[in-house]
Amino acid sequence: MWGGRFSEATDAFVAEFTASVQFDQRFYKQDIAGSIAHATMLAKVGVLTEAERDDIIEGLSTIRSEIEAGTFEWRIDLEDVHMNIESRLTQRIGITGKKLHTGRSRNDQVATDIRLYLRDEIDDILKLLERLQKGLLGLAAKNVNTIMPGFTHLQTAQPVTFGHHLLAWFEMLVRDSERLQDCRKRVNRLPLGSAALAGTTYPIDRAYTAELLGFEAVCENSLDAVSDRDFAIEFNAAASLIMMHLSRMSEELILWTSAQFKFVNIPDRFCTGSSIMPQKKNPDVPELIRGKSGRVFGDLISLLTLMKGQPLAYNKDNQEDKEPLFDAIDTVRGSLMAFADMIPALVPNIEIMREAALRGFSTATDLADYLVKKGVAFRDAHEIVGKAVALGVAEEKDLSELTLEQLQQFSDLITADVFDKALTLEASVNARDHIGGTSPKQVEAAIARAHKRLEQLYA
Ligand code: ARG
Repeated sequence: MWGGRFSEATDAFVAEFTASVQFDQRFYKQDIAGSIAHATMLAKVGVLTEAERDDIIEGLSTIRSEIEAGTFEWRIDLEDVHMNIESRLTQRIGITGKKLHTGRSRNDQVATDIRLYLRDEIDDILKLLERLQKGLLGLAAKNVNTIMPGFTHLQTAQPVTFGHHLLAWFEMLVRDSERLQDCRKRVNRLPLGSAALAGTTYPIDRAYTAELLGFEAVCENSLDAVSDRDFAIEFNAAASLIMMHLSRMSEELILWTSAQFKFVNIPDRFCTGSSIMPQKKNPDVPELIRGKSGRVFGDLISLLTLMKGQPLAYNKDNQEDKEPLFDAIDTVRGSLMAFADMIPALVPNIEIMREAALRGFSTATDLADYLVKKGVAFRDAHEIVGKAVALGVAEEKDLSELTLEQLQQFSDLITADVFDKALTLEASVNARDHIGGTSPKQVEAAIARAHKRLEQLYA
């Protein structure tokens, strides 16, 4: 492709070392779409004839079929996806093929391809997120009244409804989705026309190319367009946050499926056994996702580091943008797919969750609030209940299992209504009856709102 200036062939190892076709062939479709748009634009402005344009489009379409049929021969000596396809085009249609690259460089070509590719992937990932979110809402709807212990410091804190807990996961994913959609706007800009770095001498119509490829706008500065990969970094940051969230959810599922918790069953099809311990059923899917979060964080750091020292404009360093981006895409996709399948299949052990919520003095705050409503200052109420809890610890009884007389030792404001009003799990969750609270009524309303919000989010 550049033989003119060189007096010897590229060293075989160097050719392989500098090639990217092994991994950039994955966006052949986008490369061909970009070339078709470029040729169409060149014909519109009179740089190519209509016949030349048609030959190019036909040739490229045939090449796409060859690639899809697996008959295309990828050549490492042709370095990357761009030159492999262009060279095959010339082989097929002759000299017209050599005109395709008029007013273009691989620098703006590759930047265009990655943006098109990432845009498609973001759209697929958003669909997976939506499916997972709907799965969470479905499971939450079935568990509006399921009570479990809520934790802080992984110690029993207050009772919550399982539906409420699942809605917390849902909210994380709403923000993840918003981030991806926001990132997509900056991905969806056209670099083509920037050529190598300074623009091109042909009378190009960039707005037209942008329109053909469905880009929202053109990149405003040619130097910036061919060099910066901040859009990919942004995607990897959004992907990292998704993985961080999935990892937290995974951690909870792993705990909850243990024999010590037994809050939830993950169906066998998502688990594996042990080759030595016959009783084992391991939560592999969540464990693996928790583990995979690390590589996506690594992908983010790779891209940041890749970019930070680069002077304008394009540098070969940028060829290294692809693998960390692809890895993040693949990992996030796989993880979301697994979660979207697994979440609706989870089986909560409602009785066990309830039993667990009855231990650990989860209604202690409710007793303090009960006293506050009878005129005690909150700090004093806290102290009183602390003493009652100490008695409960000594007697190995929950507050609701102490007698009225025992409770009255700590405050004569405590009357028989305490058991119904403060010390049952239902009273505790029902009392948290405001937007964002854990009461079944509120959770039901939150689920209804969430369905509407999803419609808007994915409109
Ligand atoms: N394979 C290259 C990449 O991935 C394409 C751009 C090459 N440009 C160049 N000036 N060598 O970035």
